[in-house]
Amino acid sequence: MDEVAIEIGEATTDDCEWCARLMATSEPWMTLRRGYDVLLPAVLDPEYVVLVARRAGTPCGFIRIHPRGVAGSPYVASVAVAESERGQGVGKALLDATAARYPNARYVFLCVSSFNVRARALYERHGYRLIGELPDYVVDGYSELLMGKRLA
Ligand SMILES: CC(C)(COP(=O)(O)OP(=O)(O)OC[C@H]1O[C@@H](n2cnc3c(N)ncnc32)[C@H](O)[C@@H]1OP(=O)(O)O)[C@@H](O)C(=O)NCCC(=O)NCCS
Repeated sequence: MDEVAIEIGEATTDDCEWCARLMATSEPWMTLRRGYDVLLPAVLDPEYVVLVARRAGTPCGFIRIHPRGVAGSPYVASVAVAESERGQGVGKALLDATAARYPNARYVFLCVSSFNVRARALYERHGYRLIGELPDYVVDGYSELLMGKRLA
């Protein structure tokens, strides 16, 4: 898939509302039963960095990172792309921007829900490997899979 002409930068408060709405109306958060009311405070939490991808100034995706979330290394807490923009390289660009933002990090970590097979495949294609499984972690019946990519 070709790279798309997008710009990635830090989120504004308006962007955070857009991010929370995107998650609240998208899988996996619908299955995980996370609605706008809990997602907005999570996106606004100042402990996290939120990077937004924009095409011609309009948000098309975002990634939310805790800079020291797992064992002192960056942890991707959420990543989502607007449905009409998926499959065009925005998700890859957001993952690449995350790695570039932390040049001294040895690893980047993330969790993916066990039912989210396409997202897991994307991460594996981009060098993330399964670290461990957390059964029933967010909702009963599904696991969260901790994955990590070695950067250096
Ligand atoms: C996962 C996601 C962020 C990837 O962003 P993207 O811009 O579509 O990713 P890219 O264009 O760089 O790569 C496309 C790959 O993403 C993966 N993908 C996962 N869910 C997808 C979806 N709903 N639509 C398209 N691609 C998806 C696929 O592996 C796809 O590769 P394929 O075309 O060979 O199947 C995006 O699809 C999304 O927002 N999905 C819903 C939210 C989600 O699952 N977030 C991850 C939580 S851990």
